[in-house]
Amino acid sequence: MKHYLQFNDLSADEYTYLFERAAIIKKKFKAYEKHHPLVDRTLAMIFEKASTRTRVSFEAGMYQLGGSVVHLTTGDSQLGRAEPIEDSAKVISRMVDLVMIRTFEQTKIENFAAHSRVPVINGLTNEFHPCQILADIFTFIEHRGSIAGKTVAWVGDGNNMANTWLQAAELLGFKVHVSTPRGYEVDEKLAVGVHGASADSYQFFSNPMDACQGADLVTTDVWTSMGYDAENEARRKAFADWRVDQEMMAAAKPDALFMHCLPAHRGEEVEADVIDGPQSVVWDEAENRMHAQKALMEYLLLGRIA
Ligand code: CP
Ligand code: NVA
Repeated sequence: MKHYLQFNDLSADEYTYLFERAAIIKKKFKAYEKHHPLVDRTLAMIFEKASTRTRVSFEAGMYQLGGSVVHLTTGDSQLGRAEPIEDSAKVISRMVDLVMIRTFEQTKIENFAAHSRVPVINGLTNEFHPCQILADIFTFIEHRGSIAGKTVAWVGDGNNMANTWLQAAELLGFKVHVSTPRGYEVDEKLAVGVHGASADSYQFFSNPMDACQGADLVTTDVWTSMGYDAENEARRKAFADWRVDQEMMAAAKPDALFMHCLPAHRGEEVEADVIDGPQSVVWDEAENRMHAQKALMEYLLLGRIA
């Protein structure tokens, strides 16, 4: 049994399969072709933080695969009333075939997985957001081909998205140029990939313009992630120079793409003319959450389909 708790939980070879499979599944969806490999299978989705994309993409995706879903939140389940996570994992995983969790600490999802009889998927933790990077790389491949050897510029917070990009870079052989304000750096321990720390796959820049130089993809995220709202005011000040604008896009390659996992705040981490401009692929990126996760769910439950 395989869990998907961080990007490193799958190999480069498994990602090659998943990207190909996601393309097939997406094509079937666009052609209104039925694809029901998960009939009678149930996905439990546990949300301890808000969501639009993750909820809709997993829920719609599971129905499209022929399965069904159960939606739980902290507020409407015993999870919010201090039932031990181990007990919740044992009970829920006896009744469903797959669990997706969005929560706070990575240790929480690891603890759940350790007591689960069924595969567990990380739908975002404070530390990682692997399903998003799965979709982002699938989107890059659709637009530009293989990401191996390419350069991704990360402008902004050293958060769950940044950590996951670093893991992906090492595993899939591309480079990340990271620029964060001082005090908001990535935690390099979290970025350590399957091969151990590999400084080759990332480079830090104090100036975000330098990070964007020659990039094939420029990407950013909110200045304040869920769970850090008390820091909002301090972050607004600290991140003022880390707003992706046309100047930064001009420093990147002429055909560079722009991505943002969304939700976005125009005029904060990105200017409207960038996110709504011709280089932005954010809507494909959001849609691809569903296609990529359908491939992931199918793989975790059924393995490779010949
Ligand atoms: N990108 C993303 O995970 O969006 P939601 O918070 O809406 O799920
Ligand atoms: N880094 C953001 C991503 C939201 C999808 C957060 O954790 O809130």
